[in-house]
Amino acid sequence: MSAEHLVQERASVSLDGWTVHEFASLPSTNPIAGALPAWHAVRSDIQTGGRGRTGRVWISDAGGLWLSAVLPAPGPRKKWSILPLGAGWAVIEALREIGISGLRLRWPNDILHGRRKLAGLLVEQYQPETVVIGVGINIANRPDSLDSNLAGHTVGVAELAERSVLLDEITRLTLRAFRRLQALVEQDRFSEIVNDINTRWGEARPVQLSLNSRPEPLNGTFRGVDPEGRLSFTDDQGTSHTLEASQVALLREI
Ligand code: BTN
Repeated sequence: MSAEHLVQERASVSLDGWTVHEFASLPSTNPIAGALPAWHAVRSDIQTGGRGRTGRVWISDAGGLWLSAVLPAPGPRKKWSILPLGAGWAVIEALREIGISGLRLRWPNDILHGRRKLAGLLVEQYQPETVVIGVGINIANRPDSLDSNLAGHTVGVAELAERSVLLDEITRLTLRAFRRLQALVEQDRFSEIVNDINTRWGEARPVQLSLNSRPEPLNGTFRGVDPEGRLSFTDDQGTSHTLEASQVALLREI
């Protein structure tokens, strides 16, 4: 870790085989984690330049969990392309352990309660053979107080949980779920959780799909994913499509 970040690091904590580096403030936890070896994680109280998928800003105010975890990803890159999909499932599993139910996924890995977003994931590769899973979970923070466009579109763990939940507890459960996911992918056992993932999309919804290869979006119905993580979609003309995650720029629920 660079001297600049060493100065700012508040603590380094061992947690179930992980080393968690804690900061008061960082621009974004993902690039800091990207320089670390596997089984290290970076957590910051706030992020001043929090990043979402597709270049969006991710508001990271105090009271939420902003965490990036470095997972070993040895072997062919294709084998690990399923990780972003599994990461959403892992976060739902972690939150289930603190009694939060009724969460759903929106492809590829947004975590929602009804139509309100609870958590998001940004999975990136900075070094060969490791992958960084960056997860942002709204807990007691209020992103809508910093961006009024988010009013009514976000929800926090504090609102959903029946008891008060500590950041440390969610950190531990999330990292544990990521470790389990890593083992499932490494051992080619991802198919064991595909049915569970497919129940997490909720009822079949009309969506608009933007593909990287065509200017016009497709309207249709999202049908879930196959054991290789490919998205299954039926367009409004009744044609079925099976798409690699890399082919899809955006899925928007209508
Ligand atoms: C999204 O839903 O668009 C993804 C949000 C990902 C946010 C997390 S917070 C920790 C890590 N650091 C970042 O800058 N982004 C991710």
